[in-house]
Amino acid sequence: MKKILLSVAVLLSVLRSFADEGMWIPLLLGQQVYKDMVKRGLKLKPEQLYSINKASIKDAIIIFGGGCTGEIVSNQGLIFTNHHCGYDAIATASSVENNYLRDGFWAAEKSKEIPTSLTVKFLNRIEDVTARVNAELGNSVGAERLKKQDAITKKIIDEVVGTDEFKSAVVASMFKGNQFFLYVYDVFKDVRFVGTPPESIGKFGGDTDNWEWPRHTGDFSVFRVYAGKDNKPAAYNKDNVPYTPKYFLPVSIKGLNDGDYAMIFGYPGGTNRYETSYGVKLKTDIENPTLVKLRDMRLKYMYAEMIKDPAVKLQLASSYAGIANYWKFFDGEKKQLLKFDTYGQKQKAESEFITWAKGKPEFENVFSEYAKIYDAWRPYAEYRTYITEGIQGSPLIRFVASWRGVFNRLMMKDNNPEAIKKMLAQADAARKAFLESENKKSDQNILATALSMFNSDVDPSLHPKDFYANLFAKYSSIETNPYKQFAADVFENTMVFDDAKWKVFVEKPTADAIANDPAYKVANAFVVEYATKVAPKYQEFMEKNAELGRLYLKGIMQMNPEKVAKMYPDANFTMRTSYGNVKSYQPKDAVTYDYVCTLDGTLAKYVPGDYEFDLPQKFVDLVKAKDYGQYADPKRKDVVVTFITTNDITGGNSGSPVLNANGELIGLAFDGNYEALSHKIAFDSNLNRTICVDARYVLWCIEKLGGAKHIIDELKIVK
Ligand code: ARG
Repeated sequence: MKKILLSVAVLLSVLRSFADEGMWIPLLLGQQVYKDMVKRGLKLKPEQLYSINKASIKDAIIIFGGGCTGEIVSNQGLIFTNHHCGYDAIATASSVENNYLRDGFWAAEKSKEIPTSLTVKFLNRIEDVTARVNAELGNSVGAERLKKQDAITKKIIDEVVGTDEFKSAVVASMFKGNQFFLYVYDVFKDVRFVGTPPESIGKFGGDTDNWEWPRHTGDFSVFRVYAGKDNKPAAYNKDNVPYTPKYFLPVSIKGLNDGDYAMIFGYPGGTNRYETSYGVKLKTDIENPTLVKLRDMRLKYMYAEMIKDPAVKLQLASSYAGIANYWKFFDGEKKQLLKFDTYGQKQKAESEFITWAKGKPEFENVFSEYAKIYDAWRPYAEYRTYITEGIQGSPLIRFVASWRGVFNRLMMKDNNPEAIKKMLAQADAARKAFLESENKKSDQNILATALSMFNSDVDPSLHPKDFYANLFAKYSSIETNPYKQFAADVFENTMVFDDAKWKVFVEKPTADAIANDPAYKVANAFVVEYATKVAPKYQEFMEKNAELGRLYLKGIMQMNPEKVAKMYPDANFTMRTSYGNVKSYQPKDAVTYDYVCTLDGTLAKYVPGDYEFDLPQKFVDLVKAKDYGQYADPKRKDVVVTFITTNDITGGNSGSPVLNANGELIGLAFDGNYEALSHKIAFDSNLNRTICVDARYVLWCIEKLGGAKHIIDELKIVK
C-alpha cells in the first residue's frame, strides 16, 4: 500500500497537479485553475483578479524594494508590507536617540512621514513573447543560446522602456527557457516610511522562532507611495502627493475559520521544483552544510558586538537578519530534503523519464549528461561556498575585492586619466559607504576564523599558492594564533581604514598601491584566483545545467501532454497567485497544530529583557486589560495574531496580501514552516504551510499599541 502511494506521489510531484501547490501566472490562470479556485471557495470573477482594461487586484500588488511584496490598502497610496521587508529602511531612519527600530514609530500626519531610498513597482502588463524569443534562438544551444537570449531580451526591454526612468521591464524565462514572458512595470521612487511596531513586536521570537509555527510575530510595517501632482511617478520631492492607486484592497476584520479559502498575490523569488537528484545531493552533502557552518561563525561574531552596543546593533541589524534568515533556512532545507527522501523521489521520477526517452535522440542523453557535468563540478563546490560565504563573509575582503576593476585599469598601458578619475571617484564613494556599514571587531574575527576554517576544510590543491606557507612563516606563535595575528595586521595596515594612506592613493593612484595593500592581497589570493580559475568552470556547469534543464522540462511536457494545462513555472520573482485554505496540521506523530495563534499565547512567550522574546510594557498592559477594541476573534475571545494556510509561496512573497474569497485582505504572508523547508525543491502537500500575520492584529497594533487611529481611518474596513 505504501509503495503504491509513493509512486503515485512521485508522479504527481513531477506533474504538480495538486491543489495548494502552484504559483500561477495571473494572466494565464486558465479554465482548469480558475474553476479549481472557485471549487475551493473563490467568489470573484477572473477579471477581478487580473485585467488590463479594468482595475483589478493585480493593481494593488507591488514589488516592494529589491525582494519583497507589498500591497496598497488605501486610496492614498498606503502600503502594507512585512516588518522584515521594511527592516533596512527602518534601521536606516533610526539613530540611537530616535530608535524607531527598537521603539516603533507612527508618523502623526503625512508631513511627518520619512523619506526612504526605497522604490516600488506596479505591474503594468504581462505579455507572452515566446514566439519572438524562440524565432531569435532557433536551434542554438548552450552558451550560444544564452547569449542570443540575452540579446533579444535586451532588445525587447529597450523597446518598451527606452529612456523612461520610471519604467522597467523583464523578460522572464519560464519552464527553464521553454517560454518567455515580458513584464512591464511603473517604477515609483518616492516611498515614505509611515510607521512600524517596535522590533519586539515586528520580529518577536527572533531567529529562534523564524521559519517556525506556532508563531507570534507582528511582522508588518507601513509605508506610502507618493507621486507628482499629475499622479505620475516622480523622484522624491517634498511637494509630491500621495499616489491615487487604480485599486486598493479592503481589509476584512470578520475573521477566519479552519478550511476558509485563502489566496495570495505576490512575487515569489525562486524555486527549483525540477531540480535533479544530482542537484539535491550536492545541496545536502556539500552546499548547505558548508554555507551553514560559515554563517554560523559569522553570526556569532556579529552578535557578540551587537549585544554590547545599541549603535552597533543598528549598524549591523539588517545585514545580520539577512544572514541569519538563510542560515536557518538552508539548515532546515537540508534536514527536510533528507526527511522526505527527495533524492530518492527525484531518482524515481528520473528513471521514468529515462525509460520514456529511450530512442528519442533529443532526450535520451539528458541524464547521462547531468551525471557528467555534476562529476566535473562537484570537486569545486565546497571551495566555491568557502569563497562566497567564508572569505567574502568578511565584509572588508568583499569590499576590497571590488578594487579589481581599478587595479586592472591602472595596469593598462593607455593610462586614460579620465577613466581613472571616474573609477576613483566611485571607489571613494564606495569606501565611504563601506566604512559606515563596517564593524571592524566582528569583521577581523570573521576573517581570522574563515582563513583558519578554509585551511583545514578545503582540499589543499585548491589553496592559493604559498598563501598559508607565507602566513605561517611570518606568524608562527601558536599561543597567539597565527590567523588572528595575520588578521590584526591586515586591519591595522590596509588603506581602507587609514584616511591619510587613502588620500595619498587617491591623489597618486598606482596599481602597486592596490597590489600591496594587505587586505587586497587576501582578496587577490582567494577571490581573484577563484574568479580566474574556478568561476569559468562554474559558468560552464551552469550553462550546461540550464541547457539540460530546458530539455528535461520540454521532455516532461511531451511525456504528459494532458497535464500541461495544470503545470506552473518555477518562481522567478514575477507576479504569481497561489490559492489554498486556512488549515491546521500535524507536524509529527500525535501532535496537532492549531491554525491560529493569539495575544494570550504571545504573552505566554514573554521573557522580560530578552533579546528575542521581550515585549513593550504597553503591550503587556493592553493584553492584561483585554483591550481588544473591534479586533477580538468572536470564537477565541482574544485577538488572533497569526494564522496558517496551505498556500504555495517562497521568499520574495514576504509582505504578500492574503485574501479571502471576496478578495479582502485577511493577513500578510511572512514565512514558511520548518517541517516543509524543502519547499523550493519539493512541495509537501501535507506539511507545507504559509505563516501569516492576521490583519486584525496589524490593525490592533496600529490603533491600540501605536495610537495611530488616523491610519485605521484611511482603510476600507469590512466588518
Ligand atoms: N523567514 C522570513 C522570510 O524569509 C524572514 C523572517 C525575518 N526574521 C528573522 N528573525 N530573521 O520571509
